[in-house]
Amino acid sequence: MQAILDKNKGWIDETWAKIETKLRRNSELCRHKIPLQTIDGVYDDHSGGKCAAWTNGFWPGIMWLMYAATKEETFKETAENAENALDTALEDFNCLFHDVGFMWHISAGANFKLTGNEKSKNRNLHAAAVLAARYNVNGEFIKAWNEEGFEGWVIIDCMMNIPLLYWAAEQTNNIAFKQIAMHHADTSLRDHIRPDGSVYHIMDYDIETGECKGPAPSTQGYDPETSSWSRGQAWAIYGYALSYIHTGEQRYLDAAKKVAHYFMTAVVPDDYVPRADFRAPEEPVYYDTSAGAIAACGLIEIAKAVPDFEKKMYMQAAINLMKALVDKHCDWSEEEQAILQNSSACYAKGVHETWIYGEYYFVEAMYKLKGFEPLFW
Ligand code: GLY
Repeated sequence: MQAILDKNKGWIDETWAKIETKLRRNSELCRHKIPLQTIDGVYDDHSGGKCAAWTNGFWPGIMWLMYAATKEETFKETAENAENALDTALEDFNCLFHDVGFMWHISAGANFKLTGNEKSKNRNLHAAAVLAARYNVNGEFIKAWNEEGFEGWVIIDCMMNIPLLYWAAEQTNNIAFKQIAMHHADTSLRDHIRPDGSVYHIMDYDIETGECKGPAPSTQGYDPETSSWSRGQAWAIYGYALSYIHTGEQRYLDAAKKVAHYFMTAVVPDDYVPRADFRAPEEPVYYDTSAGAIAACGLIEIAKAVPDFEKKMYMQAAINLMKALVDKHCDWSEEEQAILQNSSACYAKGVHETWIYGEYYFVEAMYKLKGFEPLFW
């Protein structure tokens, strides 16, 4: 594995230097913002109001990655501003849902990990308690959303939220957090992952008996039943790799590998740039570059976890995905504040735009390739 990293060192260093330059400037420009996407090249701001968008942890997360890598105060200051702004959401219980992991574990959780800030630790523990409280005992799952009619809906994305629970178990010495995370991971493994390694977005459960009723109509992919929404596949790869890291359970690593094998094959026809849905018609062509960056993060963790003779294929796949993004889908100019272009919110909505989650995972993947630590998840 080291040989592949050494072979690509020039490209990795050059890309990272460009990331630092661009994000140093963005840190100043967005000192009091929580951006979601760029409009005409300029980041918008979601720091006001209830502040409970699932995406609001990614901007401080990017800033903490940069702080961990550079120790430059500008990144820390911008990250702390965003974390403080998120308090309005944390104090409003009814507006919180399963994405508290995305929102706090890479903002407050990263802050605590890097600086030991007790207030941040407390914020993250509150977020973990909110997530754990969403657990359905009979169905052994964490419910996704609050809306009426969605009571039994469980989504693959939640695999990225449960690292917050593994962390909370360690911090509090309360194993219940870890047990909830593992029960959820096992339910999702059984029901979300299809035999061929593709993944459903949403499964629906009877909230009284816990019985799985089958897939619910997803709006993320092309088709509710047959879809293979690429970002969902990427959440599964990275999410199961993280569950393996936190538990050491081989079944989670095997699940990550299985979805990864499917993903690695599905991106080949488009030269490693993921379509928004791998099972959509050939035309129109909708890419989701965020899926490539998320999958790359997961593949790098798989490469670290597997025996020596397997490492190369996962690391090479991660580099192929990242090179495809850097070669064709990055904007390093000052006219456009986001680096990663052509992410998608979902199939046919918000396609080929800049989205902060794509930016976050792009930076995280390059941070990993550079060998920086720690892992925030
Ligand atoms: N977690 C929401 C999404 O990936 O769109």
